[in-house]
Amino acid sequence: MNAKEISLDEKAVKPVVDMLNDYLANYHIHYQKLRGCHWNIKGQNFFTLHLKFEELYTNAQLTIDEIAERVLTLGKPPHSRFADYIKESVIKEIDTIGMNDMLMVEAVLDDMSKLIEIERELLKATDEAGDDGSNDMVNRFMQFKEKTTWMLRSFAGKK
Ligand SMILES: [Fe+2]
Repeated sequence: MNAKEISLDEKAVKPVVDMLNDYLANYHIHYQKLRGCHWNIKGQNFFTLHLKFEELYTNAQLTIDEIAERVLTLGKPPHSRFADYIKESVIKEIDTIGMNDMLMVEAVLDDMSKLIEIERELLKATDEAGDDGSNDMVNRFMQFKEKTTWMLRSFAGKK
C-alpha cells in the first residue's frame, strides 16, 4: 500500500480501496451497457439517443480510468478482468438487441441510481478514512449522474 506515503492511515483506507474496486466493476458493466444501447438503438429517437449514449459512455470511460488509477494511487492493483467485473458488480448485464428505446433509458437510469447508492456509501467511507482525494473524486462523479438522472427523467416525461 502507498497510503502511508501520502499521509493516509493504511488500515483506515483499506475499506475505501476495496469499495473503489467494486465501484470500478459496476462502472465497467454500466459502460458496456451504454455501448450496447448506443449500437442497438432503433426508432424515432435514434439520432438523439445514439448520441446521448455515446456521450455517456465516453464520460464513463474517463471515470473508469480515474477510479482505477485512484485504486493504484492508494496502493492496490485495480480489477482488470471482465470475469472479476461480472463477479463483483451488483449492476447486471442486459441484452440490448431489439430493446425498446425507452426501456434503454430506464435501464440506464436504474444503473445510475445503483451507482449513486454506491457513491453515497463511498462518501461515508472516505470521510471516515480521512481520504479527501477519493471523496472529492467520487463526489464529482456522483453530481454528474445526479444531473444526468434529471435530464433522462425529463426526456422520458417522468415527474
Ligand atoms: Fe459509435
